[in-house]
Amino acid sequence: MKDNNNRIIKHIRFSITSHCNSNCIYCDKEGFTPKMSELTVEEITKLCKILAKVLNVSKIKLTGGEPLCRKEIISIVKNISNLGFYKDISMTTNGLLLGKKAKELFDAGLNRINVSLATLNPQRYKRICNNDSLETVLKALEISKDIGFNPIKINYVILKNINDDEFWSMSDFCNKKGYILQLIELHQVAKSVGGGNNLFYQNYHYNTIPLIKQLEKKSNKTIIRSNMQNRKKFILSNGAIIETIVPSHEFCMGCTKLRIGCDGNLFGCLFRSDLGKNLKESLKAHYSLEKYDQIIRQIVDSREPYY
Ligand code: 5AD
Repeated sequence: MKDNNNRIIKHIRFSITSHCNSNCIYCDKEGFTPKMSELTVEEITKLCKILAKVLNVSKIKLTGGEPLCRKEIISIVKNISNLGFYKDISMTTNGLLLGKKAKELFDAGLNRINVSLATLNPQRYKRICNNDSLETVLKALEISKDIGFNPIKINYVILKNINDDEFWSMSDFCNKKGYILQLIELHQVAKSVGGGNNLFYQNYHYNTIPLIKQLEKKSNKTIIRSNMQNRKKFILSNGAIIETIVPSHEFCMGCTKLRIGCDGNLFGCLFRSDLGKNLKESLKAHYSLEKYDQIIRQIVDSREPYY
């Protein structure tokens, strides 16, 4: 299905819980605040089936909060996998519970993981994530690699005067371990980030453009990921793979995602959950596929480029 700006919906980002066992200072809470209770496992499965049929999508990312805080997480992954529609099932996790669950997740059909890791320094980790779990996360990454998750991506949100001096050491670490580094520029979303005003963004936003220019010079190859918001991917001469996520007009024009909040709110843009529609009641109503198609089309039509 195409939106009004000719963007085909190709993947789903599904927040399955808003609970989290970490408290990262930069967290955007996936751009929404739940207004109703979480969808049940059956409702999640049904919605994934409807979305696959209506939109013909085969890529889904599970997020939170922290998806591993959802106690039925293994059944959720298993059910989505058993639908047979999704060829790429991935998860974004903070890694705190990953070591314990990696094997079960892999066996349930999870294909890929992205792990949030903003620093390799324990004191900084504590400052950014408000917990002492850096070692646990590093261990979980090793376990996940041994189990066979591939690729493993590291989500490094770069913050001015907090971890902006770690880019090259993160790059070396990831290269050594065989992980892909995702360099993520802070984006401005909910006012709640950093305590209710825009000061957090003002104080800690780090402009990645100069760094990306350096990457362009240093890399053997630059790939534009046209299916992924025109994100750039660099292969450096030492073999390191770096992907960049930088809010921009091109990024937004290349967006092919639909989002679902844990309460069933389907929305088209991280910045506009207010334009979403809650599907919980319609999931109970057992509509025909045509009716779901109509509802989903309304949301797809609400997508606008915001940059
Ligand atoms: N800016 C950029 N990325 C963010 N993430 C969360 N909050 C922000 C923000 N304000 C990303 C992190 C995390 C993923 C779930 O969302 O990369 O790993």
